[in-house]
Amino acid sequence: MSRENLVFQEIEEFSKNLFPGERITLHRPVFGGNEKNYLAECIDSNFVSSVGARVTEFEKGIAAYCGAKFAIATVNGTAALHIAMVMAGVSRGDEVITQALTFIATCNAISYIDAEAVFVDVDRETLGMSPDALRAFLVENAELKDGRAYNRKTGKKFAACVPMHTFGHPCRIDEIADVCVEFGIPLVEDSAESLGSYYKGKHTGTFGLLGAFSFNGNKIITTGGGGMIITDDPEIAARAKHITTTAKIPHPYEFVHDQVGYNYRLPNLNAALGCAQLEQLAGFVEVKRELAEKYGRFFDEKAISFVREPAGATSNYWLNAIILESREERDAFLKYSNDRGVMTRPIWRMMTELEMFKHCQHDGLENSLWLEDRVVNIPSSVPMSEIGA
Ligand SMILES: Cc1ncc(COP(=O)(O)O)c(C=O)c1O
Repeated sequence: MSRENLVFQEIEEFSKNLFPGERITLHRPVFGGNEKNYLAECIDSNFVSSVGARVTEFEKGIAAYCGAKFAIATVNGTAALHIAMVMAGVSRGDEVITQALTFIATCNAISYIDAEAVFVDVDRETLGMSPDALRAFLVENAELKDGRAYNRKTGKKFAACVPMHTFGHPCRIDEIADVCVEFGIPLVEDSAESLGSYYKGKHTGTFGLLGAFSFNGNKIITTGGGGMIITDDPEIAARAKHITTTAKIPHPYEFVHDQVGYNYRLPNLNAALGCAQLEQLAGFVEVKRELAEKYGRFFDEKAISFVREPAGATSNYWLNAIILESREERDAFLKYSNDRGVMTRPIWRMMTELEMFKHCQHDGLENSLWLEDRVVNIPSSVPMSEIGA
């Protein structure tokens, strides 16, 4: 057996031991609390759709957890991102600065507005947008008019900057926020993956004008499908609620809508699940941090680079990740582990390699390319054995 295969086998065995008796997925949900009770209450009360007490309760719960003033629940994280960008003022023909190493939803949301993505590089340590790359890109490409930044090459407005906290690890978001202020660019955080993650003691998603979360089935807590916008701005919060609920003017029986709105409100059924999940979030974060600790010690012994929370961050360790030596080693490991029932996945294909975003302006993306070749996600669920199941 080659040295490579020997190490792969040890990783396989280690992962299997972390999840005794389980099918080893990348991230499956845990329903260990009041989920069934709260769902039954919804069904018994007939409030299963977008009106219901659980939606408001879930919004208040997320806002309180994150230390945000307002939260607006949506049908999924992509919808939350879409509306967050609209609220930040992004409109047709604008440009939005983001990272190329992200999940497709970040860029899809930009495209729904008929805006154009522009990509800057990430940091190797955080896997998220690099404030240094952002600043360098803007110094070279931005021209300021009336306090707003425009792209010198295209003449278009940089209408928002959307960094993403990759796998739950906070990027250097305070420095990114400073660059955004300097260049007059609204900051919207794609914090879909980082509920439970803090940077310098402040929850991710609260550093800019708006943040967006996802409660998809693979996230740290799930509502089946769902999302949330957070903001401290009361006027933005009111507009976001209005536009996500078909822009209907409140009236006891008349249907009057004052703009084209979206049917984006999270149903009560999903919110009920969310309320039950939120009660368990602190415990999930604790167990996931312990899991990461075990992985970290193991990979240190094997001299394999394990992605740890960046300096200043307290991460939810949503998805654990390792950095292998090369694309070849990455591919060999993916094949080896998936063939043996240990689910592993490569980091996303870069947006600039996808047909829809190939033409988009970028800064060379040196670190993104390097990471794309090497990063693999490894099994990261809360082990059932840890919750007494
Ligand atoms: C980085 C990122 N952005 C946005 C989303 C979109 O969330 P959703 O799947 O709930 O639409 C996700 C997750 O799926 C994500 O990982």
